[in-house]
Amino acid sequence: TINPSISSLFRHKTHAGNHLRRINSGLWKLKAVVMGEAVASGDDQLIFPNHDFAQQAHVPNFQTYLEMYKRSIGDPAGFWSEMASEFYWKKKWGQQVFSENLDITKGDVNIQWFKGGITNICYNCLDRNIELGNGDKIAIHWEGNEPGVDDSLTYNQLLERVSQLANYLKENGVKKGDSVIIYLPMLMELPISMLACARIGAVHSVVFAGFSAESLEQRILDCKPKIVITCNAIKRGTKVINLKDIVDSALSESSQNGVNVGLCLTYANESAMKREVTKWQEERDVWWQDVVPKHSTKCDVEWVDGEDPLFLLYTSGSTGKPKGVLHTTGGYMIYTAATFKYAFDYKPSDIYWCTADCGWITGHSYVAYGPLLNGATVLVYEGVPNYPNPGRCWDIVDKYKVTIFYTAPTLVRSLMRDGNEYVTRYSRKSLRVLGSVGEPINPSAWRWFYNVVGDSRCPISDTWWQTETGGFMITPLPGAWPQKPGSATFPFFGVQPVIVDEKGKELEGECSGYLCVKASWPGAFRTLFGDHERYETTYFSAFPGYYFSGDGCSRDKDGYYWLTGRVDDVINVSGHRIGTAEVESALVLHPKCAEAAVVGIDHEVKGQCIYAFVTPVEGVEYSDDLKKSLVLSVRTNIGAFAAPEKIHWAPGLPKTRSGKIMRRILRKIASRQLDELGDISTLADPNVVDQLIALADS
Ligand code: WTA
Repeated sequence: TINPSISSLFRHKTHAGNHLRRINSGLWKLKAVVMGEAVASGDDQLIFPNHDFAQQAHVPNFQTYLEMYKRSIGDPAGFWSEMASEFYWKKKWGQQVFSENLDITKGDVNIQWFKGGITNICYNCLDRNIELGNGDKIAIHWEGNEPGVDDSLTYNQLLERVSQLANYLKENGVKKGDSVIIYLPMLMELPISMLACARIGAVHSVVFAGFSAESLEQRILDCKPKIVITCNAIKRGTKVINLKDIVDSALSESSQNGVNVGLCLTYANESAMKREVTKWQEERDVWWQDVVPKHSTKCDVEWVDGEDPLFLLYTSGSTGKPKGVLHTTGGYMIYTAATFKYAFDYKPSDIYWCTADCGWITGHSYVAYGPLLNGATVLVYEGVPNYPNPGRCWDIVDKYKVTIFYTAPTLVRSLMRDGNEYVTRYSRKSLRVLGSVGEPINPSAWRWFYNVVGDSRCPISDTWWQTETGGFMITPLPGAWPQKPGSATFPFFGVQPVIVDEKGKELEGECSGYLCVKASWPGAFRTLFGDHERYETTYFSAFPGYYFSGDGCSRDKDGYYWLTGRVDDVINVSGHRIGTAEVESALVLHPKCAEAAVVGIDHEVKGQCIYAFVTPVEGVEYSDDLKKSLVLSVRTNIGAFAAPEKIHWAPGLPKTRSGKIMRRILRKIASRQLDELGDISTLADPNVVDQLIALADS
């Protein structure tokens, strides 16, 4: 569902009206802030790349970008074929590089890239880079939760580990096309497991290790994996989390519901929990360390079609259960590799760190595949960014001489609150490019990131994209053009964003509306697992002919894009996507909850937080204990990261006469914008609004 009134949606509305300087045939003529000077204020300020950076960049100026961009749009087949030829294809794709239909009125939505081409993404990440002479280069630096605990693997070693696991999986009956659920924290075994699946053509589905047993079960029931890969426990900061208990409960529930997973490969993470105290089910559970190292370090590659599935990743939508976003091999491979290279101006000498977990798309595309395809050295960090203190990130940056640091605005804001001393006590002089993802980065956080973390020296790639898009869609190319704090700037090669109004009319020039994409790009998802119809209705029916992102966006006079947040019932908490419907179902599972309505409101650090209106069943009294147990219901049904910030008692909910909850009104009450409630006369019972306001602080 889309909210009807556009104008209220644009938090960054003022940006669009700023008197920004014009792009004049790609030449920036007006007074500029040159990189190297601190950025003080004014959202309309252009921050120009410094000369030395631009000179060495893959795309050194706007002119070059325009030429490449025009070609990518004018001749997508030629442009992407060229990119694809940098990789190994056992057999080249067919005559037609891609085919697409995004227009639901003309038939089934269908996107294909490199169909008929035969390749393997694991081979391209590992074997190919080894053949290019990178066998002894570090592929993964691993930094443990505790300072001082670390490890690393070269490309040669990584290939050996991946091959051993791949052989184990094959021996246990995992075949091409089978799904495998991976429920692991940020140990090296997580990317190893993903790559091992890819090597044998199995479809991995990584479930973020912060999801609850119920969420894991739901995913097991949906994709029916041959095997679940997990570990016994993890340490995050000072907390130990017993993952195995969660998996046990998910596996026993799912077997009662008809999906019996016979094998649970468990990595013994002894620093968090000893093997002896781990609960064990003999016939089903196997210790990774007992079986995997016994296998051969050589494993033949299963060659797959460019359009064979690579992975499933469940993500939240406006309605119903999480959706299994399906990505295929060839297009995703080329797209993650190219976006990584250009958006971070990647060079072989870089040390790259992305703070995302592989349980989310960012970890798939930009911890694992994108960087490894480029032969990069990737840092994988197990712990939380502020443990043992808020200086940990910069300690790690200095320790490994990290050059590219990619994170989320929520972390930037939280570190900003902890004070500059935690940053400035570290050198950080290795840094050259910064990145941001997950939600719009507010200009003040952007400036702090730029001035304090990057010493006014490092461009920031504010990358807009989604689980569905596979890779970056709108992103700066560092060095190629001036930045504006808070704007994701311009589209990546091959991406044709359009902003439409509520009727689906394409808007020109300076405008605000719904962000759509006009044509396919190689990294696009191909379907929702087992539900192509839902794929079509969710993404392609609101505005026929376009992919609809679910985001609002404005474009300023200079053509810069400004993302403004979701326009559907999806909330973005600390960069994590959460569907209001999911939280509502978790709340109503509580026996004392009759009805619930959830909205997102602004939060200083998290970006947004969850605000829940709850109607208890008849006769139940409001109490703090009940609030706590309602929150617990969300934690156990989804995961701690989805816990509501606030429970607001609601004797009744504002509904239209046809019974539809008016979330617009709830949002205003939640954010205490009581003078902006708007027209409430269409409510079945307008009195509920007064009741809600009266109960706001109880
Ligand atoms: C939001 C994460 C503004 C957006 C990669 C999108 C952003 C949703 C940005 C996708 C950004 C992500 N600026 N908004 N740079 N990056 N978003 O699927 O609302 O977890 O629709 O993918 O995050 O979240 P997802």
